[in-house]
Amino acid sequence: MKNEVVDGIEITDHLRRLSPEQVREEILSGLLDSPRSLPSKYFYDQKGSRLFEDITKLDEYYLTDTEKGIMRRTMPLVVGELSDADVIELGSGDCSKISILLESIPEESRSTIRYVPVDVSRAAIVKSAVKLRERFPRVRIQGLVANFHHRIEEVPDGHRKLFCFFGSTIGNLGQAESESFLAGLSEVMRPADRLLLGLDMVKEVGVLESAYNDSKGITAAFNRNILDVVNRLVQTDFRPREFDHSAFFNSEVNRIEMHLVPRRNSTVHSPYLQSPLEISSGETIHTENSYKYTPDSIESFCKKCRLNVENIFMDEREWFSLVELAAD
Ligand code: AVJ
Repeated sequence: MKNEVVDGIEITDHLRRLSPEQVREEILSGLLDSPRSLPSKYFYDQKGSRLFEDITKLDEYYLTDTEKGIMRRTMPLVVGELSDADVIELGSGDCSKISILLESIPEESRSTIRYVPVDVSRAAIVKSAVKLRERFPRVRIQGLVANFHHRIEEVPDGHRKLFCFFGSTIGNLGQAESESFLAGLSEVMRPADRLLLGLDMVKEVGVLESAYNDSKGITAAFNRNILDVVNRLVQTDFRPREFDHSAFFNSEVNRIEMHLVPRRNSTVHSPYLQSPLEISSGETIHTENSYKYTPDSIESFCKKCRLNVENIFMDEREWFSLVELAAD
C-alpha cells in the first residue's frame, strides 16, 4: 500500500498489478483459445480511453446521455438528504456523472461528504479530482488506485457509503464474474449503505446495434486498437487494418458481442509463442460482451447477489436504468 499526494489530491495505491508474464499468459491463452478471444480490459490504453470518450459523445451511443438525463432528474431524490457519507465511485473515469450527483447534495452538506474515486488509472483519478476540487471545493476527495473487483474492503471505513457503478460497465463482465462482484459488495454493505448501478436495457435491435456500429467508425477504431495494445504487450505482428469490426446483438443471451474478423487467413508471430498463430478468415477474435437487461432480469440478478432493489429509475423510453440497491 502506498499513500501519496499528487497535485494536492490524496491517493492510496492498492492496485495489484499483474506481472508482465501474467499479462502475456492472459493474452496468449485467449488468442490460442477456441473460439479466440481477448480480455476487454486491454481496450483502454491511452488511445483506447480517448476513443471510448469519443464514443460516449456519438448520437448513436445513447447510453451516456440517457444515464446522465436520468441522473439529473432523480439524484435530488437519492442524495438530497445525504450527509456524513462516503460516495465511492467504482471505475470512476471522467467526472461528469459524479458532478451531477454532487450537485444534487445541498451546498451546506457538501463539507460532510467524502468522494472516493476508484480506478486502475492513477492519472485518470488525478485529472478528474483536480476538476472536481475546483467545482466542489468543500467535498473531501480521496482517490483509490485499485481494480474495482478486488479490495472493496480497502475502501475507507466509518461512514455511510453510497457506492456508484455507472455506465453499464458491469455488463462487460461474464455472468459469474458480475455475480461474485455484486455479492462481494453486498457483503461489505451495512443496512444504511446503497449502491447505484447503471444498466443498459434490452431494446429494439436496430438501436442496440447502431450504438456499436457508429457511422463515423469510432467503435471500429476502438475495437481494432486492442490489436495495437496486444502488439506492444506480447510483441505480435497483427495488422489491425486487415481486421473488420463486427458488433451484433446476441438475443439468446441478451448481449452485444464485438469481434474482429480477419479479411483473409493471417499468420501472427510472437517471440512468446512456440509456433505462429494461424488465424483463418472464417474465425473471429471475440473482444467484448456488453450485457443488456430487462426489469425481470434486474430483479433476479440482484436477488442472486443478495441485493434488494429499492428503486429503478428509467428514462422515458426505458432505454437505461439506474438501480438503487441495498444489502439484503
Ligand atoms: C464502457 C463497457 C459500458 O459496453 O457499452 C462502447 C464499452 N464498447 N462501445 C459498453 C463500449 C463499445 C462500453 N462500456
